[in-house]
Amino acid sequence: MTISENQVRDILQQVIHPASGKSIVETGIVKNVIVKDNKIVIELKFENPNDPLKNSIKRACETILKEKFQGAEIEVDLNQDQKTPPKNPAPEILSSVKNIVAVASGKGGVGKSTVAVNLAVAFAKAGFRTGLIDADIFGPSIPKMLQSEDSKPYARNVNGRDMIIPVEKYGVKVLSIGFFVDPEDATIWRGPLASNALKQLMTDADWGELDYMFIDLPPGTSDIHLTLVQTVPVTGAVIVSTPQNVALADAIKGINMFANENINVPVLGLIENMSWFTPDELPDKKYYLFGRDGCKNLAAKLNVPFLGQIPIVQSIMEAGDTGVPSVLKNDLVSGAFKTIADNLVMQVTKRNTELNPTEKVLITHGKKH
Ligand SMILES: Nc1ncnc2c1ncn2[C@@H]1O[C@H](COP(=O)(O)OP(=O)(O)O)[C@@H](O)[C@H]1O
Ligand SMILES: [Mg+2]
Repeated sequence: MTISENQVRDILQQVIHPASGKSIVETGIVKNVIVKDNKIVIELKFENPNDPLKNSIKRACETILKEKFQGAEIEVDLNQDQKTPPKNPAPEILSSVKNIVAVASGKGGVGKSTVAVNLAVAFAKAGFRTGLIDADIFGPSIPKMLQSEDSKPYARNVNGRDMIIPVEKYGVKVLSIGFFVDPEDATIWRGPLASNALKQLMTDADWGELDYMFIDLPPGTSDIHLTLVQTVPVTGAVIVSTPQNVALADAIKGINMFANENINVPVLGLIENMSWFTPDELPDKKYYLFGRDGCKNLAAKLNVPFLGQIPIVQSIMEAGDTGVPSVLKNDLVSGAFKTIADNLVMQVTKRNTELNPTEKVLITHGKKH
């Protein structure tokens, strides 16, 4: 069977770049197609040399070509000599965002994303212009928690640069790598690719003017954390933990990372999640499954502000699954999130009066903690 270059281009029409929603052939990403005997070589060239989806798209091309032209040798090259700077230099990153708040935790599964989503929605409801970045590149959960899994943000030309337009939900501007790749694929992203993807969500998106930008971080301390503090001046961090001892030990590590003299991001406070369980049929009962006041006591001990407690309630879990955040309801749980939001506003204001603006971290090697 002889393969023609047009056949190859036809097949590649099916590969869509999620940011533009258009095929990579149509947008000119497929720069060259060469067929020689049994070998197909294609060259891809991305407008943005740091396009976070470069490798996913490369893989998508390989898969689809292998499937269609079985037995052929497939080579997909990324055009590497893309040194040309963008037409207009990138403006200072997120310079029109007044406060950048990182939401972090030591352990995974303690409710960091739940807290980030509810705080962002609470802030938006309170009238603040609010953004939210899902920086949990390996396990993005914000799209589901905001019922926007099907959103496909598109890019728009702003002052000569292609900028991603954040999705808007419940008054919050949101971006997540989950909008661009299948969340199950994201787990295999390697470190540098993930860091680039986060950078792009900050640098190449049209966030406009915001009062608050929340960043939902992956658990623990990682390259993503380092990328964040190197890319933008983070106003402060909030740490989410359960009152359990093992979680607290990890929370301390998280606090120490931000407080580290090389990082120097003020810790705005600790939030205790899953403080107690109250069954629906016994509304006056509180069962302290993970111990009592663990975070509250730790905050006092470390002299870190304590922002509040959130009980374990089935409706919080359900709200996460259905994508309608708890804070939008009118009940005790919603009140707990609102109290924490109020306390956070107070702490940010205090921080901005008492301390100088945070500086971006300039180090690169070996000074992580
Ligand atoms: N206070 C709570 N009560 C009940 N379920 C909760 C609570 N906080 C979080 N969850 C649920 O626990 C799971 C993990 O929460 P998540 O916010 O994704 O944690 P993390 O981002 O730290 O990994 C989710 O299914 C979420 O809905
Ligand atoms: Mg999470």
